[in-house]
Amino acid sequence: MNAASEHPAPSAAIPAFADLRGKTALVTGGSRGLGAATALALARNGVRVALNGRDPDALAASAAALREAGGEADTFAADCAELAQVEAMRDAVLARFGAPDFVLAFAGGGSGRPMPVHEIDEREWRSSLDHNLTATFFTVKCFLPGMLARGSGALLTMASAGARVVAGAPAGYAAAKAGVIALTRQLAHELGPRGLRANCLSPSAVLTERTRANLPPQRQAQMLAAFPLGRLGEPADVAMASLFLLSDASAWITGTVLDVAGGRVMV
Ligand SMILES: NC(=O)c1ccc[n+]([C@@H]2O[C@H](COP(=O)([O-])OP(=O)(O)OC[C@H]3O[C@@H](n4cnc5c(N)ncnc54)[C@H](OP(=O)(O)O)[C@@H]3O)[C@@H](O)[C@H]2O)c1
Repeated sequence: MNAASEHPAPSAAIPAFADLRGKTALVTGGSRGLGAATALALARNGVRVALNGRDPDALAASAAALREAGGEADTFAADCAELAQVEAMRDAVLARFGAPDFVLAFAGGGSGRPMPVHEIDEREWRSSLDHNLTATFFTVKCFLPGMLARGSGALLTMASAGARVVAGAPAGYAAAKAGVIALTRQLAHELGPRGLRANCLSPSAVLTERTRANLPPQRQAQMLAAFPLGRLGEPADVAMASLFLLSDASAWITGTVLDVAGGRVMV
């Protein structure tokens, strides 16, 4: 159905941003999905990539894809919701690559179906906050000192349409992603005078292996009416937005939330 849209999915041709070449990026959540696709786009742009996730096999496969594309990549398994693990990852990344020019804090995800707020249990609420908002905070907290020492670079965080409009996301996930947006704005305010930018992506339904498994074709077709551009998202849509927000093409853009959402979100 995506192919039938008048606004077709992006081709495999990833745009080149010359200023990215030779830079280094940490991509959390880089073992699969949007993080893996964005890491691949960065590698194709000559960026050396430190890939994070929790699943060593998925990380190895993602790194292999980057190397096959001619990129330089290494893997750093860690649960970003655990500060000690992020600190250890930071030390390993610094030893391997030095302080990254870019940090893409993409690790996260939803934790199940929406339900009335009063029925959300404590474990689920804390899990949503931990794996989205706290994981983003720990990542930024650990890698910022190195970036500040250099005085240049960019951060990219990952929100969700669920934080922008009320549209069926679980409340804990929506609240966590709204927190990511607030954290990003705070960062942009603090870091601008010190030479760093911070922006946030807010995708709606992007078809990854996980979302395809959760959304049968019939359900995907029903959803299309909410997307003026007539298709659901592809990982490359997020990857291309990321390249723009990291490159000097967006040198005067910070603290913004970019809705990569096919027109579903207009705020
Ligand atoms: N796809 C969409 O439609 C969509 C829409 C809006 C927002 N998003 C956001 O985009 C991000 C990526 O989503 P996705 O669709 O690509 O999901 P995905 O395919 O399930 O991938 C999630 C990635 O995040 C990693 N991850 C999750 N929690 C982690 C943690 N605590 N520490 C380290 N890594 C962790 C996973 O690593 P392992 O699997 O190796 O553990 C995996 O690499 C998430 O933040 C999600 O909320 C996605």
